Amino acid sequence: MKKIKKAVLPVAGFGTRFLPATKSSSKEMLPLVDKPLIHYAVKDAVEAGIEQIIFVTGRGKRAIEDYFDISFELEFHLSFQGKSDLVDEMRKISDMADFVYIRQKEPKGLGHAILRAKDVVGDEPFAVILADDVIENRLSGTKQLMDIFERYNCSVLGLERVAKEDVYKYGIVSGREIEKKLFKLDEFVEKPSIEEAVSDKAIIGRYIFTHNIFNELEKTKADKKGEVQLTDAIESLSKKEVVYGKILEGKRFDCGSKLGFLKATVEFALNDKEIKDEFKKYLKEVE
Ligand code: UTP
Repeated sequence: MKKIKKAVLPVAGFGTRFLPATKSSSKEMLPLVDKPLIHYAVKDAVEAGIEQIIFVTGRGKRAIEDYFDISFELEFHLSFQGKSDLVDEMRKISDMADFVYIRQKEPKGLGHAILRAKDVVGDEPFAVILADDVIENRLSGTKQLMDIFERYNCSVLGLERVAKEDVYKYGIVSGREIEKKLFKLDEFVEKPSIEEAVSDKAIIGRYIFTHNIFNELEKTKADKKGEVQLTDAIESLSKKEVVYGKILEGKRFDCGSKLGFLKATVEFALNDKEIKDEFKKYLKEVE
């Protein structure tokens, strides 16, 4: 069985829910306390043993490249000030993995973005991580899926049970439970109404795919909005080979929405050694 060493991180969306903040900078660079969302996504991959991160970027995403690069000026400045701890911390970021950048010229949907990575991924299985979904857990979301892949050698999607009122935001799936919290999937609906939803199980931003997903993405037609939907390609893949879904352990924050992002900010601040006591005090004052 091939070991998974590559992860594709699509970051080419417009992030319209965060306009005007995302008019000139990237949603993935919004910070939770002191680290951008994209840092947590890369950490999720690296903790699962991923060695190469393939970013699919678009306009206005230069800050992501700079974040994972070495900054000589900054390091020189920090060294000059005697802040060697910070120099080491900055260096660790660029040493997290090998970083590759591919351009998606137009944001034609998540499926289209992933297809751009086809040549770099080659014929290996690979992970996909969406930085919007931040998952707090002892084992990273990608690692939890990798453990399933290593046992069954097939594509696996990260799932979460969601409230009825929220099904319209997600790809919703259903299938037979083959072991606790692990499902063999056979039905897929993208952003259904409550009536159309086939279950309460939603796909969240962690995936492992065999390279065959690329063939399905190539055949998937764009929808009415001109977007190639990843869920459509996964459904075709499931007709040719098994696709599993695993309900992930841990707390997930939907940082692609303002409310989810604010909830994550509060929880991360309450766990931050440096500020948690004063922040708790402040929250009591404003209650
Ligand atoms: P979203 O559906 O959250 O879209 O994309 P978005 O543009 O980022 O945000 P909103 O909905 O307009 O507020 C999910 C992920 O897929 C990437 C995004 O960057 C995000 O990480 N994506 C989406 C692409 O890389 N290309 C696309 O064409 C669409």
